[in-house]
Amino acid sequence: MTFRFYFIIVCIINLYYLISAEEKQIAPLPKHVLPSGRVLPPIGFGTFGWGTHLNGLTSYLSAIDNGYRLIDTCSFYDNKLTIGLAVKQQIAAKLITRKDVFIISKIWNTFHKSQSVVENIREDLKELGFDRIDAGLLHYPTSFQPGINKTPKFENGSYVPMFWEKDKGYLEAYRGLEAAFLLGLIGSIGLSNVNVHQINKILENAYIRPVILEIECHPFYKNEKLINFGKQNNMSVICYAPLRGGSQELKNNPVLKEIASKHNQNVQQVALRWNMQRGTIVIPRSHNKIHQLENIKSQNFVLDENDMDKINNLPDLKKLMNISGLQTHPDYPFGPGYDTEP
Ligand SMILES: NC(=O)c1ccc[n+]([C@@H]2O[C@H](COP(=O)([O-])OP(=O)(O)OC[C@H]3O[C@@H](n4cnc5c(N)ncnc54)[C@H](OP(=O)(O)O)[C@@H]3O)[C@@H](O)[C@H]2O)c1
Repeated sequence: MTFRFYFIIVCIINLYYLISAEEKQIAPLPKHVLPSGRVLPPIGFGTFGWGTHLNGLTSYLSAIDNGYRLIDTCSFYDNKLTIGLAVKQQIAAKLITRKDVFIISKIWNTFHKSQSVVENIREDLKELGFDRIDAGLLHYPTSFQPGINKTPKFENGSYVPMFWEKDKGYLEAYRGLEAAFLLGLIGSIGLSNVNVHQINKILENAYIRPVILEIECHPFYKNEKLINFGKQNNMSVICYAPLRGGSQELKNNPVLKEIASKHNQNVQQVALRWNMQRGTIVIPRSHNKIHQLENIKSQNFVLDENDMDKINNLPDLKKLMNISGLQTHPDYPFGPGYDTEP
């Protein structure tokens, strides 16, 4: 009798541990492997905001401490000096090696002449203090009149294009990215803020294919069609503004709140996890160490099909990043047909 009793108790305990171990097992997130064999993490660090301010340094240092190994910047943010310092400091502290960190930068619109692209990248490298950026992206397909003024505008507030002829400017810029790749200044080429027509044009003309597509996507701008188009063309898709820039719509959404409380997470973690789980890379920005840690921990839980469906069914709102004054540009990317094949 006692033996039987103990046997049943042991079985119940084993069953309990078996079930909870299964529950704790985290399904792996989709992998992002570039044709070069380089593996990209599903979550990276966005760096918009601090500019040249030294406070940025603390933020980048803690981001690396907290486990971020992909850093997103661009020539326009003016923060490469502090990013470079942070990476070098963490290399000196033996926390990372240079190879552990994937640094992305993007060429700005006034540098679309192919020779200027190379100059723009050399400038970025000088500021970062490295001899190679892991990926160089076309920031926008909208080429601006070259010059010291990075935002040349007409009196009516619209931007001055480099050419009025459609498709000409960004195709020239892409040649510059290819030259930078061949010179070994960038490890791979990517695109940002482009539409389907522009991706097709680039693919038709490219000698070296783009392997990264960085676009806006979050629960209120899902961008599903463009994501799929990018993936079909063998590009790893990076979602910028994955928290919709920290907007109230995301923070206060009852559906996200309900899912968050079900999993004992916060809404930001749910939004990031949803994106990663559907096969994208997210690059949230946070200057708050606790938020940085919360965000990276969004890799450690799983949303079920029902949660994913509920988020997929949230309404799409207006695109967050839509610079005013760009609409009259011949290569304005966000007009009708943005995410549909011609
Ligand atoms: N390619 C492009 O054209 C393009 C355009 C836009 C952005 N980007 C890139 O994408 C990155 C991310 O986008 P974003 O900077 O616009 O916005 P975001 O990452 O969507 O949101 C950032 C905001 O969310 C808040 N936040 C972050 N984690 C949080 C948490 N766990 N709890 C509460 N609040 C949290 C941050 O505040 P705290 O600092 O207080 O945490 C900040 O106000 C940029 O930094 C940039 O690198 C690229």
